[in-house]
Order: sequence, then structure tokens, then C-alpha cells
Amino acid sequence: MRMRLLPMPVILLLACTAGGSTEDPVAATTFPDGTPNGTALFQMHCTLCHGKDGRLGLSGAKDLTLSVLTRDEVTTVVAGGKGMMVGYRNVLKPGELDAVVDHVMALRAATPSARP
Ligand code: HEC
Repeated sequence: MRMRLLPMPVILLLACTAGGSTEDPVAATTFPDGTPNGTALFQMHCTLCHGKDGRLGLSGAKDLTLSVLTRDEVTTVVAGGKGMMVGYRNVLKPGELDAVVDHVMALRAATPSARP
């Protein structure tokens, strides 16, 4: 009689929860008063490449704290995309786009000397 080998059980418990600072309300993309939360939206859509502080630079993403674009130019890039970055025109509502751009501009201001 032949024994069949069963596939090894997949270990699903590897996803370790990063301890500590997990207070980010990523799910809450709007404030209680209904205005869009640019910080949360940024964390949801942008940190993958740009990182929470805007400096991650994955996939050739620009360091947002070193960006010299004007607010209008940032809006254009975020709405229409550029290079490897897709546009968010169809992902974010106009108010949300605005709030994310606010956050991008704030990242820059929050890091006066962005160079390490
Ligand atoms: C798939 C990775 C990826 C994601 C996700 C992403 N970006 Fe980008 N982003 C890039 C890349 C790559 C560039 C550089 C484009 C180029 O210049 O060719 C860039 C450039 C930018 C720039 C222009 C910076 C400059 O000075 O030229 C801004 C602003 C920006 N991203 C904001 C955002 C925002 C806001 C989001 C979320 C809504 C976002 N990005 C999501 C990859 C990404």
C-alpha cells in the first residue's frame, strides 16, 4: 500500500504584529466631521513607495521631503501620476486629493533638514 505525502501545512502565523507604534488610524480616512484625513489617506495609498515620512524612495519614488515642487505641481503629479507612479485621479475624491497634497506639503515642512 502506498502512502501519499500530504503537503506541509502552511504556517499562517508568521505575520508578526509590529509592536509599539500602531496608533495610526489608517482605517479612518475621514475625520468625524466628514473632512478627509490626508495623513490616513497618505498612509493608505502612498507609504508603500514613499514611506510614512515620505523618504522611503521605493521603486524610484522621490523623497517627498526634498521635493521642490509647488503645491499645484504636487497636485498634478498625484492626480496624473509620473513615471512608475500611477495617478490617483480616479482613486481619490477631489477633497481627498487635496488633503493628501496638504499632507505631502506638511511632510516637507516637518523635516527642515531632510538630509541625514
Ligand atoms: C508605486 C509606488 C508609488 C506610490 C504608491 C506613490 N508614488 Fe509618488 N512617486 C513614485 C515615483 C516612482 C515617483 C517619481 C516619478 C518620477 O519623477 O519619475 C513619485 C513621485 C511623486 C511626487 C513628485 C515628487 C517630486 O519632487 O518630483 C509626489 C508629490 C508624489 N510622488 C506623491 C505621492 C502621493 C501623494 C502618493 C499617494 C497618493 C504617491 N506618491 C504614491 C512612486 C509612487
